Amino acid sequence: LPPEHADMMEAHELIAKFYNHLLMNTNEGSIALEYLLNRGFTEESIQKFQIGYSLPSWDFSLKFLEKRGFHTELLEKAGLVAVRDKDNSHFDRFRDRIMFPLLNSQGRIVGFSARSLTKENQPKYLNTPETEIFNKSSLLYNYYNARSKIRKQGYAILFEGFADVISADSAGVHNGVAVMGTSLTEQHIHLLKRLTDSILLCFDSDSAGAEAAYRSGTMLVKKGLTVTVAMLPSKMDPDDYIMKFGAEKFREDVIGNPQTWMAYKLIYFRNGKNLQNEGDKLEYINQAMKEIGELDNPVERDIYLRQLSEEFSLSLTALSEQLQQIRETIPKQKPKEKELVIQPEPSVTKS
Ligand code: UTP
Ligand code: MN
Ligand code: MN
Ligand code: MN
Ligand code: MN
Repeated sequence: LPPEHADMMEAHELIAKFYNHLLMNTNEGSIALEYLLNRGFTEESIQKFQIGYSLPSWDFSLKFLEKRGFHTELLEKAGLVAVRDKDNSHFDRFRDRIMFPLLNSQGRIVGFSARSLTKENQPKYLNTPETEIFNKSSLLYNYYNARSKIRKQGYAILFEGFADVISADSAGVHNGVAVMGTSLTEQHIHLLKRLTDSILLCFDSDSAGAEAAYRSGTMLVKKGLTVTVAMLPSKMDPDDYIMKFGAEKFREDVIGNPQTWMAYKLIYFRNGKNLQNEGDKLEYINQAMKEIGELDNPVERDIYLRQLSEEFSLSLTALSEQLQQIRETIPKQKPKEKELVIQPEPSVTKS
């Protein structure tokens, strides 16, 4: 670890402790604390996730860290302070926000996501920019803390928002992680694959969440992982759900009762379609047939084909014929990614 990077992490860890102190023990932090408690955050989870509060000051964090020997340039590189255009002077990036520390895979704090307390103060979440130590395409929120639970339980839960990870954790679900407002990347998948081959997607139940679940699931399956999808009532996210229905119902009805990837895709294709409408109906049937055609298992193909035939009163013979045609256009099954490891040639003994 380059000494400069270690210093940047140390600066984050020092200020995170102070933000947490401001939140928990001071008058200045009381409105933020009340906000969190009202939302259902517990003191226990605030401490576990080292949540804090940054003052509405332009230079409190800057002064605090400079006094402790950190150079302004280093703090700027770390993304903790920003620079004014007009006179190149420095100021705190995070002001009057709830501070969520972001830990890298080694458990070191490398950034923050900072939530505003009001609708007027935009954006809702202000994140550390890309720095030498923080790369949002390769950081999974809660990865460090969830590692052993993911291994033990045999799967990871991927949430859309890190607030959902925290809520789920206080609801007794400790194997959750989240991307930081980006789409899922190969690097995220690589991190997950170190721990498990099985991912449960638990995204917000709105169109953005449904799209993201479809895209993420498609990527994960392509990389050879097994994907299931938890379903939530429309317009809710996991955090809302736990608040409204409680931890037990979340564990049993949502986490404990996911859809298979195939079933999710069929639900996804129906979104926004009116199946009474001929055009929509045909489009759905074609999408479904294409997915069924890609299934390796003939029994599974048979199950979904029968479902389709019953639901739309279509003859099984016609559907089977079409499926046959579809399958002829699919290139012969490629071996799964993990089997693509090329064995080295047996070394030839020199004479
Ligand atoms: P959401 O808007 O679903 O956040 O965005 P949330 O978790 O439900 O937040 P609350 O409950 O309103 O507090 C999902 C994720 O997208 C990123 C964050 O990482 C967030 O967790 N995001 C969202 C941003 O980075 N910036 C934003 O302004 C909004
Ligand atoms: Mn500078
Ligand atoms: Mn959302
Ligand atoms: Mn959400
Ligand atoms: Mn939410």
